[in-house]
Amino acid sequence: MNQILVAIPVFDDVLARLREHFEVDSCGDAPITARDELIHRLQGRRGVFVAGTPTIDAALLDACPDLRAVCSMAVGFNNIDVPACTARGVLVSNAPGVLTETTADFGFALMMATARRIAESEHFLRAGRWTEWRYDLFAGADVHGATLGVLGMGRIGQAIARRGALGFGMPVIYHNRSRLDAAVEQELGARWVDKATLMREADHLVIVVPYSPASHHLVGAAELALMKPTATLTNVARGGVVDDAALAQALRERRIAAAGLDVFEGEPAVHPALLEVPNVVLTPHIASASLPTRRAMANLAADNLIAALGGGAGQPPTALNPEVLPLR
Ligand code: GLV
Repeated sequence: MNQILVAIPVFDDVLARLREHFEVDSCGDAPITARDELIHRLQGRRGVFVAGTPTIDAALLDACPDLRAVCSMAVGFNNIDVPACTARGVLVSNAPGVLTETTADFGFALMMATARRIAESEHFLRAGRWTEWRYDLFAGADVHGATLGVLGMGRIGQAIARRGALGFGMPVIYHNRSRLDAAVEQELGARWVDKATLMREADHLVIVVPYSPASHHLVGAAELALMKPTATLTNVARGGVVDDAALAQALRERRIAAAGLDVFEGEPAVHPALLEVPNVVLTPHIASASLPTRRAMANLAADNLIAALGGGAGQPPTALNPEVLPLR
């Protein structure tokens, strides 16, 4: 039996499935965060089960020569150097598709909570500060009928656009490197615009682009300066796509109305200036976190490991570099 390492905590039933195919070393309830320990525990292991952490780069691969498959239960794979894996004949898989609708639900909910000031008003109430009904108490922005701006129009961006257009009568504008097919644009009622126009015209901007060096600080001080003072910004993509320090300053100076953030540069640390401003809703990277979806993501990573290394029939279903197959 091949040996694998499960480097992050995972559902017991998924672990039990993996144990039917592999000799499994599991981290239990504590993710392996120390790189030395990760390298040590990967010696002699052919596969590793990860998510958006830990980092799998060329140096780690060189230190772990037995490794042949890196299977992630996350859709974003910026923690994994895929070309370095490919060059060494190591298969990489991620978990697309199964989390699209759940993540879109959350992105929409976070945008609504941001526009309607739900977190800020709840803190006010819990602090015992609510003494009277007032016409302007936590009056925010409307969502229905407002212009939804989507930055990054992949599967999740399209699912968010669909919610806005069909459920809330929102005109949708988007910016993406490639344009959608005309038929999809028509179904979503979505119009492609350049990035500056997106920033200028969106009432509610939702960011859903994958992180890469090309998308680092895609939204920084210059882009925030283009936004309406009444606009909101929601980030459910990855930390680093938004310049958090510039965002905190724009929020403090009320140059935009509010923000909703599920992801942060350097998370789980959060930029201290973001913790100081009231007009931001902060959540701990939970956009895909419904129980059925997290279980589906974990099972998809397990499917990939089993197909790649466990003697399972067929190809790993969501391999990012199937050209490395068959594995050495
Ligand atoms: C979560 O952020 C994911 O990439 O699945």
